[in-house]
Amino acid sequence: MISTTSFFAPVDEDLKILTQNLRNLIGARHPILAAAAEHLFSAGGKRIRPAIVLLVSRATLGEAEPTSRHRRLAEITEMIHTASLVHDDVVDEAQLRRNVPTVNSLFDNKIAVLAGDFLFAQSSWYLANLDNLEVVKLLSEVIRDFAEGEIQQGINLFDTSLSIESYLEKSYYKTASLIANSAKAAGVLSEVPREVCEHLYHYGRELGLAFQIVDDILDFTSDTEVLGKPAGSDLISGNITAPALYAMAENPYLEVLIERGFSGEGDLEKALSIIKESQGIEKSRELALGYGKSAVTHLTCLPSSPSTQALIDLVQYNFGRIY
Ligand code: IPE
Ligand code: IPE
Ligand code: MG
Ligand code: MG
Repeated sequence: MISTTSFFAPVDEDLKILTQNLRNLIGARHPILAAAAEHLFSAGGKRIRPAIVLLVSRATLGEAEPTSRHRRLAEITEMIHTASLVHDDVVDEAQLRRNVPTVNSLFDNKIAVLAGDFLFAQSSWYLANLDNLEVVKLLSEVIRDFAEGEIQQGINLFDTSLSIESYLEKSYYKTASLIANSAKAAGVLSEVPREVCEHLYHYGRELGLAFQIVDDILDFTSDTEVLGKPAGSDLISGNITAPALYAMAENPYLEVLIERGFSGEGDLEKALSIIKESQGIEKSRELALGYGKSAVTHLTCLPSSPSTQALIDLVQYNFGRIY
């Protein structure tokens, strides 16, 4: 995996402070919840979402130090993301995340759902304490969208009539909404003009969609060790993502295999080889590249600075993950 550090150079120090603060914010209300949270925070993760919030903060503040509210927003963003991963791992019955055992596998599903709820609730409390109603609205929408996305995904499992539009809508809800709304919220805290806030929203939205498509490609092309989470599990669980959608259009036999839930002998292997031999991966890559390009165009509203450049580079970093 490519290190994210060089891309985050303008906010390297900020991210160190963030990691320390996150630990303090979760507190030790209850040993199990604290253990679940600590477990995730100390294991780390790429910290892409708080990095975006901090980079947008610096880019909109003329490279001045982010205020304590900007920093808190970045912390809340990572907290919401982590909560969504804890719930996502229950839904996926995943055993591994960030290269360590998931909360559901260490404890059980009940504890993991409660731990995720705890993190969502805790993030809402810190959000309210920012005392900015618009920011509260933006981030509350994210939490609602996440649940909506997981539900959409859940009801469409093994449904081969899923369209690319529905796939993208679900991806917006699950992933892009957080990046879009938190980038915009950072602009709101900096009190930049309305239209700049809208561009920041769109930058986050397009980057978020590209990010999810890349994640979905990696699920087919990468291995568990590199990902730090189980590879190849989307298709097995019936989650039909971009590469499979394109491959189905090319080879209808894939539909048959998916519809019978890979119940025949060798079905899954056959399905995987159909996808790998199709244009599915390449077409997905092109789809993601389109969103990446569009994301960059929305940054022209920002003055050029090291942080603006880092936001541009981040788009490229995302694609570096699939080369
Ligand atoms: C994983 O997000 C879930 C997706 C939205 C694809 P990340 O890849 O940012 O996960 P961490 O935070 O680095 O573990
Ligand atoms: C994004 O989607 C996860 C969340 C927004 C929680 P995925 O379901 O693809 O995430 P991974 O692949 O399990 O990390
Ligand atoms: Mg998942
Ligand atoms: Mg995934």
